[in-house]
Amino acid sequence: MTRTASPIDAPAAAGDATSGKVKPLRIGIAGLGTVGCGVLELLDGNADLVAARAARPIAVAAVSARDRHRQRRVDVGAFPWRDNPLDLADPGAVHVVVELIGGADGPALALARATLARGLCFVTANKALIAHHGAELALLAERGGAALRFEAAVAGGIPIVKTLKEGLAANRIDRLHGILNGTANFILTRMEETGARFADALAEAQQKGYAEADPSFDIDGIDSAHKTAILASLAFGTPPDMTALSIEGVRHVTDVDIAYARELGYRIRLLGIARREGARLDQRVHACLVEEGEALAKVRGAANAIEVHGNFAGPTMIEGLGAGAGPTASAVVADLIEIARGNRTSTFSLPAGALRPLEAVPAAERRGRFYVRLRVVDRIGVMADIAAGLRDGGVSVERLIQRGGAEPDSVHLILTTHETSEGAMDNVLARFRAIDAVLDEPLMLRIEPI
Ligand SMILES: NC(=O)c1ccc[n+]([C@@H]2O[C@H](COP(=O)([O-])OP(=O)(O)OC[C@H]3O[C@@H](n4cnc5c(N)ncnc54)[C@H](OP(=O)(O)O)[C@@H]3O)[C@@H](O)[C@H]2O)c1
Repeated sequence: MTRTASPIDAPAAAGDATSGKVKPLRIGIAGLGTVGCGVLELLDGNADLVAARAARPIAVAAVSARDRHRQRRVDVGAFPWRDNPLDLADPGAVHVVVELIGGADGPALALARATLARGLCFVTANKALIAHHGAELALLAERGGAALRFEAAVAGGIPIVKTLKEGLAANRIDRLHGILNGTANFILTRMEETGARFADALAEAQQKGYAEADPSFDIDGIDSAHKTAILASLAFGTPPDMTALSIEGVRHVTDVDIAYARELGYRIRLLGIARREGARLDQRVHACLVEEGEALAKVRGAANAIEVHGNFAGPTMIEGLGAGAGPTASAVVADLIEIARGNRTSTFSLPAGALRPLEAVPAAERRGRFYVRLRVVDRIGVMADIAAGLRDGGVSVERLIQRGGAEPDSVHLILTTHETSEGAMDNVLARFRAIDAVLDEPLMLRIEPI
């Protein structure tokens, strides 16, 4: 596809940026909710600073959302309105389309395809879109000579995309892991601080506006998985692939687990993990036990944090606000400034055609230490049955706690294992389930060395 030179290709001298001599970078914004209004507020509040750093003003040429008459935090009456967001992808009117609608498919995907196919740049905060369609969209962007940017899609205001693509570009990344969902972290740390049950901590998160009315993407690990797939692509040169991830959330973590983990010297955190093992890649999201002295164990409330291990840089950790209008708008506008400056890095660290899938590490082969919680009938012989299950499954126990008071006539058995494989643990859990004195579904969490 041929592309005419646009004003985006010729950044102006910084001194001209606010003088009215420089043509602005014209953007169209689709979606005027939390993030869309935050972007408008930032572009207005920091207009001079943004123009100076972008070497040209950034001007909103058109906006679109579902309901034109909705009362919004920001008055959008002065901006040209498009009923159909696809009409924003007009090369005569804008240089960049900013998609802040959400959803992996539907209008967001249609808008991304239409924008990039027309050689216009595309900026989004939409992790689901990039995790599911990032490789296709990156190819489309390269063919059209356009930029595709998504700093806001991972960990809100934390500049982790830029860190991986640029700051750590000289490193071979061995592993990364992070707290990528503020809602889940708020719930887990609230349970830790107050002894609250999961349902009560979730209700508090909803009341404070951290969790949606339908919180399933946050607490079932899907949101963290979207972000992990994107980070893995940036770090390991693979196309983002949601099918390559094992995903578990935090719904099954109880106040009992939080208390026992503490007693054992751990905190429970929902982590997104991507780790290279030779030529294979292990990608997963799950609640796990992290030693209380680790930096990630100290990340509290709705914060996010990501630790990356580069072979020359060593460990690098960034912590900050992973969501909300301000932090997310900060990342969206940073992408716009990059585009205005004419900075053209590949979408995912490598050219789209060079991204290669890596073989996944089968779950059963993953090695590590594990935490198991059982509720069992309080009677003679049960411990012998549990010990036999462990012996027959070939798993050795590091620590065992037995404590009554769970329910009348039952006790909690909490054990941690020495290093073993996840396959061996599955085998042991199957043996536990077959013991009639085991009352509930056993819970197994990984003890994550980080
Ligand atoms: N909120 C955060 O803290 C945060 C953080 C990081 C990333 N993100 C991502 O940012 C994106 C936007 O999130 P948000 O929280 O701002 O969502 P939001 O508050 O629900 O806003 C969504 C906007 O999209 C519009 N919209 C919905 N369906 C549409 C359609 N079919 N056609 C046109 N417009 C449509 C809505 O229009 P109406 O207003 O007219 O209904 C609304 O303005 C999502 O991808 C999200 O994952 C959000």
